[in-house]
Amino acid sequence: MEQQITDFFSGLIRPKMSNTNGSSLLRLGVILTITCVISLSVVFVWFSPSKHCPPPIFRPDLINPAKSNKSVSEKAEDESLSDKTVEKPILLLWVWPQDYRFDFSDCKNLYNIDNCHLTDDRGLYNEADNVIVYHRDIQWDLSNLPPSPRPPFQRWLWLHLESPTNTKRIPGLENLFNLTLSYRQDADIPVRMKLITRKKPDDKFVIPKKDKLVCWIVSNNDPSTGVDTRNVFFRELSKYIQVTLFGRAYARFLDYNDYYPTLASCKFYLAFENSIHKDYFMEKINGPLAAGTVPVVLGPPRRNYENYYPAESFIHVNDFPDAKSLAEYLHQLDRDDNAYQQYFNWRKHLTPSPHLILQTQEFILAICTACDHVARHREYKEFHDLYDWYFN
Ligand SMILES: *[C@@H]1O[C@H](CO)[C@@H](O)[C@H](O)[C@H]1NC(C)=O
Repeated sequence: MEQQITDFFSGLIRPKMSNTNGSSLLRLGVILTITCVISLSVVFVWFSPSKHCPPPIFRPDLINPAKSNKSVSEKAEDESLSDKTVEKPILLLWVWPQDYRFDFSDCKNLYNIDNCHLTDDRGLYNEADNVIVYHRDIQWDLSNLPPSPRPPFQRWLWLHLESPTNTKRIPGLENLFNLTLSYRQDADIPVRMKLITRKKPDDKFVIPKKDKLVCWIVSNNDPSTGVDTRNVFFRELSKYIQVTLFGRAYARFLDYNDYYPTLASCKFYLAFENSIHKDYFMEKINGPLAAGTVPVVLGPPRRNYENYYPAESFIHVNDFPDAKSLAEYLHQLDRDDNAYQQYFNWRKHLTPSPHLILQTQEFILAICTACDHVARHREYKEFHDLYDWYFN
């Protein structure tokens, strides 16, 4: 099991991308192409036989390679080249979300993200290209927002990872921000651990040994957070199948070192969201997928999950008319190893990445993702009607 955990975590580290020699060759190639195209265009326009010919098409990407429609990796290469000349944008974390502090070097160590200058030093406010403001820590009278007027080049990022059910509408924020940073796919900066495709099939994956049928870790059981739907379903389900419970809500606190091994030891894991919203599913489904367990999800419709996870990697409660038939199906899979194994076929071509599990690590991925984004996108942008977007 220990070995497995280290494997999981090493999966987080991305391979380095750029190769400087390759890049300068590429650059030379681009310059040559541009020179050729320009001289050819000049010759063409000069000797053009007819005035009715359409003017040569203006291709800004040929003149300014930095603004071309290149692939992300090509862009990354360009940027790593210009790294020496162009300064990294400053990303100022205005408050530590929920006071969960971490070392900014984690972005490099965990995700190989190192292209912005992350800081929590408010003394850099006037130079900061971007400022992250965490929604839940904003005071109702807005008195702890960064000062106005803000420097004209500065963008404010709205960071929020809760679902609309658990979001307070603090008045006055509607037209203040430039970029949104959220679990939602349609945010300016979406935050999520994704499955990564692999070309060479991985045949090494072995389903971990199981000694429990269905497990569920529940830390939050506060009725105000919308947990009713899942509790009603759970009560019904537990009449027909045995569920092993863990977590604060059941006074069986799981040490974080035991999180992945425990998930791995269960055949199924209840990935039940506290409230049901588009794209609102993250670590609850990612955990079992990364651990080698079949998630049984309760949340937005199956189609929404299938934007991120293959259809045959999870079971959706809505696939069944009621909890009883779901329980029957799980019992059936428990008896039929071959059918159970089909739920892991995706592992051949896709690699899951375990998410960080300490509570104090909750915002690391979001902040690192923001760092990478602001380094690649420096465009002007205003974001209006924040709540219309978030609540509708
Ligand atoms: C950021 O958004 C604010 C509010 O809409 C706007 O006034 C400001 O000009 C924007 N700045 C940048 C750099 O995008």
